[in-house]
Amino acid sequence: MELHPGALGARRIGADVIDQIPTRSDVARQPANSVRPPPGWPGTLRLAAVLVSLAVVIAALLAAGFALVVKSRGGEAAGAADAQPVASEPAAPGRKTLRELTPPGMRIGSAVDGRSLSLDPAYSSLLGAEFNAVTTENAMKWRNLEPLPGVYAWPGADQLIEFAERHGQAVYGHTLVWHSDVPTWVSPDWPAERLRTELRDHVTEVVSRYRGRVWAWDVVNEVLDEDGSLRETLFLRKLGRRYIADAFRWAHAADPGARLFINDYGIEGRTRKADALLKLVKELRREGVPVDGVGFQSHIAWDQPPRDLTGNLRRFADVGVSVAITELDVRVELPTTPEKLERQAAVYRQVLRSCLTVPACVSFTVWGFTDARSWIPGYHRGYGAACLFDGNLAPKPAHQALIDELGRHAGTDRASPTTN
Ligand code: XIL
Repeated sequence: MELHPGALGARRIGADVIDQIPTRSDVARQPANSVRPPPGWPGTLRLAAVLVSLAVVIAALLAAGFALVVKSRGGEAAGAADAQPVASEPAAPGRKTLRELTPPGMRIGSAVDGRSLSLDPAYSSLLGAEFNAVTTENAMKWRNLEPLPGVYAWPGADQLIEFAERHGQAVYGHTLVWHSDVPTWVSPDWPAERLRTELRDHVTEVVSRYRGRVWAWDVVNEVLDEDGSLRETLFLRKLGRRYIADAFRWAHAADPGARLFINDYGIEGRTRKADALLKLVKELRREGVPVDGVGFQSHIAWDQPPRDLTGNLRRFADVGVSVAITELDVRVELPTTPEKLERQAAVYRQVLRSCLTVPACVSFTVWGFTDARSWIPGYHRGYGAACLFDGNLAPKPAHQALIDELGRHAGTDRASPTTN
């Protein structure tokens, strides 16, 4: 399904026809996977687009079919609209789950792998039992949601939202603007105004579709470089720094009730990048940009816990924003040993403790909960075992550490004016 950017590049749609191109909102109410080859495509490209689109539709139908199979096996109601939230079942009899112990005013979530959600009832049942919030790991990224211009693949995101609603979970939307997941049909050769229109329409389309159903959005992801300067991306090059403020304003207009976050990594300690982000957030808020929160991804190595995470979260909270741990995992250098897993558990505990200590910390999300479905081995060579549960869904010491830490804080009042 991947197309070379050049194949559908600027020659296909020249500046002269830009004004005739319908905006995404024109197609906003079309059914899932609606097909709209833009005008002016040569016949062969139109044919290719239709064929690829059909493939997307078939894949989506297959995915939906799988989802139905799992639903009927699991005995869950088929429709989301009429379904009541199901009670969460503890993974082991008598043991309290993370969500049962999490204090009001804070959410505990996990990123979700769509394939496992469709195909693995044990995965879904543990997800429903342990967490009261979910994040789409990949399904809401621009490249996945809109594989061709105007061709939306909603089923993955819809499926997770419906699951969340059945299980009384909040949905954290990830992510609207990220340099890393731009669809291949977005051309670097477009004039700036074309890129801006596409970006605006994408943000508006997605946020409007899920208005009232997504609690918070990562509006922009990883906009800073390690040294604290704005990251050199297509968006920055073409649109200048105002693309960040624009994205927040578009998202806010599409769903005024959603909490809007700026999300990044490498900001857990008091790094130069964290300093720069703090400055950026202050500037944006001074300009009236609707930034509600800062997400700390927190991809951490077992032997490098962040220094002074609590103090760092506090200085962001002091400028009036919510903070959230958005993508925590603690990777271990392989092979694992019981000692490494204990140290990993201590890092999980430390991060949770920081979040619990700062009332503005409104959610704590792990980037996947099982070692069977983690991105770490594929991206950090020689590392793995980064999650709370092992590959067989058995709880690891890190899970127990979170349970203990939540128990320790039980009864503590975390109510904060910034939570909702
Ligand atoms: C990762 C996913 O986990 C992988 O499955 C995918 O192949 C690449 O992206 N920061 C982010 C996340 O904001 O979206 C990334 O997720 C991990 C790093």
